[in-house]
Amino acid sequence: MKVEDRYYRSIWHDESDRGAVHVIDQRMLPFSLEVITLRSAADVYDAISNMTVRGAPLIGAAAAWGIYLSFLRHSGRERNSSGTEQSRAGDVYNAVISDAQQLKSARPTAVNLAWAVDYMTGVMKSFPDADVLRKAAEGLCDEEAERSRLIGVHGLPLIEAISSIKGGETVNILTHCNAGWLACVDYGTALAPVYLAHDKGIKVHVWVDETRPRNQGSRLTAWELLNHGVPCTLITDNAGGHLMQNGRVDIVFVGCDRATASGDVANKTGTYLKALAAYDNGIPFYSALPVSSFDMTIDRPEQIEIEERDAEEVRTIDGISIAPEGIAVSNYGFDVTPARLITGLVTDRGVCRADKESVIKTVS
Ligand code: MRU
Repeated sequence: MKVEDRYYRSIWHDESDRGAVHVIDQRMLPFSLEVITLRSAADVYDAISNMTVRGAPLIGAAAAWGIYLSFLRHSGRERNSSGTEQSRAGDVYNAVISDAQQLKSARPTAVNLAWAVDYMTGVMKSFPDADVLRKAAEGLCDEEAERSRLIGVHGLPLIEAISSIKGGETVNILTHCNAGWLACVDYGTALAPVYLAHDKGIKVHVWVDETRPRNQGSRLTAWELLNHGVPCTLITDNAGGHLMQNGRVDIVFVGCDRATASGDVANKTGTYLKALAAYDNGIPFYSALPVSSFDMTIDRPEQIEIEERDAEEVRTIDGISIAPEGIAVSNYGFDVTPARLITGLVTDRGVCRADKESVIKTVS
């Protein structure tokens, strides 16, 4: 996507420095656009854990580059060590697998992380070569960007249909957290259909949930939408129900960190409450996700591991205390919206119902 006049992805490899991967530091937005360089699997692990990069598809893309950087570093070291060719190769392999385990543990809920790490270690097993791994990570990023673009293509008719029912009047869309291009490699998931609709001249307006405690909505989604010229309004997380009751929301689009084979969707905490309110008010509620976000090994909401994060995220805002010292805190990063509350899943392969039969048909 463009920021001012420059085209950006959220992550990219440096063509002139093969050991460098650049990312936008999302902790700094919207106040400054800073790019930082990752040079090792440990750098990638830190960037994922401290949320320099976040959003399910981007976490997977970053981890893919983490495997490449790990291989580069360990194979470089091994060239200078003694020992047989066989044992050197074995040492590199073991070192990368150990980094892979570490990367997988950086954040537990988004399935894209383990998916990307397993894909890259599989490539390494067959082709233990830095150039092959670089191309694999590049390919994974390109495919992720294309999947997001296709989510936009498949989600667009949902907005067009509402626009046409409303006689061309503004379509009001509510979204939670950030499921835009920053959370992916490009385009976004929940926001991809919105960008396409806006670019096509359809009148859209987005209600942006602030998304406490880390404020991905106010910091990232608002920044993205304003940059693209999409009309939007920032709201508190608890305002959505009121807006829905008063006919001010036509459709809800959210992202997804992990979907079960039955169509249940884990996404940023608070998504479930929006789904309940949408259901109560007869408002269509869609989750947008690439097929890489389905975990076909599970089919019940309680099988999704929910990340618990640091209490300080709740006790403070930007380091300023907003609660009595010593207060107990619970900070679940995600919740699960059961399939029965979801109107449909917008995937890169089309829109499907949130049920096992449709999901299996779509994913396989
Ligand atoms: O904790 P985050 O910021 O990584 O959570 C992100 C979300 O919940 C997004 O909505 C989700 O990853 C879908 S992203 C395209």
